[in-house]
Amino acid sequence: MEEKKESFGSRIGFILAAAGSAIGLGNIWRFPYLAAKYGGGIFLVIYIILVVTFGFSLMVTEISLGRRTGKSVIGAYKHADARFGFLGPIAALVPFVITPYYCVIGGWVLKYLVTFVCGQGAEATSDDFFGGFISTAGQTSVFFIIYAALTAVVVIFGVQKGIEKVSKILMPILVLLSIGIAIYVMTLPGAGEGLKYYVLPTFAGFTVAKLLKTVVAAMGQLFYSMSLAMGIMVTYGSYMRKQDSIEASTRQISFFDTLIAIIAGLIIVPSVIIFSGGDAAALNAGPGLMFVTLPKVFDSMRGGYIAGAAFFILVAFAALTSSVSLLETMVSIVSEKFKLGRIASTTVCFIIVIVMGMLSVLGYSSWSEVTIFGYQILDFFDFISNNIMMPIVALLTCVLVGYIVKPEYIEDETTLNGETFKAKGLYNIMMKFVCPIFMIIILLTPFFVEI
Ligand code: PFF
Repeated sequence: MEEKKESFGSRIGFILAAAGSAIGLGNIWRFPYLAAKYGGGIFLVIYIILVVTFGFSLMVTEISLGRRTGKSVIGAYKHADARFGFLGPIAALVPFVITPYYCVIGGWVLKYLVTFVCGQGAEATSDDFFGGFISTAGQTSVFFIIYAALTAVVVIFGVQKGIEKVSKILMPILVLLSIGIAIYVMTLPGAGEGLKYYVLPTFAGFTVAKLLKTVVAAMGQLFYSMSLAMGIMVTYGSYMRKQDSIEASTRQISFFDTLIAIIAGLIIVPSVIIFSGGDAAALNAGPGLMFVTLPKVFDSMRGGYIAGAAFFILVAFAALTSSVSLLETMVSIVSEKFKLGRIASTTVCFIIVIVMGMLSVLGYSSWSEVTIFGYQILDFFDFISNNIMMPIVALLTCVLVGYIVKPEYIEDETTLNGETFKAKGLYNIMMKFVCPIFMIIILLTPFFVEI
């Protein structure tokens, strides 16, 4: 049965849902360790420049494409130009690769949340707590399945009653929690040193190669963080009301997304520096920063358990609104393609998530010796989606908009309600020249320098 096209009920509902999608593990788990790795202030400046130019242009494109065609990502590209119909399935594949492993990490967050809320944060400080947990398939799969089920429940309720409602509740709490925890960290003795490390650029040893790596890392982070090149914003755009401003909404979504990433860095970087007695090397924990280093930091702080519990609630809320958007994108594809209702398509997608997610769970436990091109299964999914599929989708989207349907195709949609497209000049240059060149650089860099 085909259902009537759903839509968000209000402008703020759309913005909070799209910001909810954008603000996720990428902001809290990934951004701080990248900022720490790539020279603090320099990374921040490069990232912000990319958000307002590149990220802005791609997000306007995707939302407009969705709203103009009213279709899921598969239908949208075909509708724009039949010759680009092949791009839809490639873009559609991305959420099918990402959602399962994203929910596995969501399950890890749930485990930490439960541990801290139950007052057992001290347990999480032992060196093998994280390693021990992820290598036990039984436990990890339980948390993963509960997390995926929570995501599916929100999606089953639909765009207005599920996604919009949950975003309207969780997003304000998330902003307040993050500001509250950041203020708490800032008041701890020694926070100034950490703050300096985070915001002041470190030019020592900064070479052209390092600059290139920093730009490429910031670009990768931008895709991830702004939920671009994977059909999410096309899907959410297709639910956006025609009278709302795409340009203004895009600015607000990017602002919130960047703000929360910067605040997450303000929480994590100074606390790790304080904890390690000023040793910046402690920040090089990479992806383990949030799960391994941070619990020790909370343990060492006065009132750290409460801060730790609040922090993992924050992360769980951020992750949930993002996995909801990923699952919704899968659901929009399945329901459009197979003409299924919401409950049936959500069930199909949930099963796919569980089956594929179990591969990632097992990849860290019973099958830990299995690697694909040298990656563990979860890391492999992350690598092919972020480093290969997404830049290809973005590159071809730029070609489609810059040269085939022309930027006017997008501009028409942004000016539908009589407003002017203020950033039109910047947008045209970005879509025709700058974005495609950057995408090619992103795709080629891993062949020349180690990222
Ligand atoms: N933008 C969200 C985040 O930063 O966590 C959700 C997300 C979308 C993550 C797409 C990863 C991804 F590839």
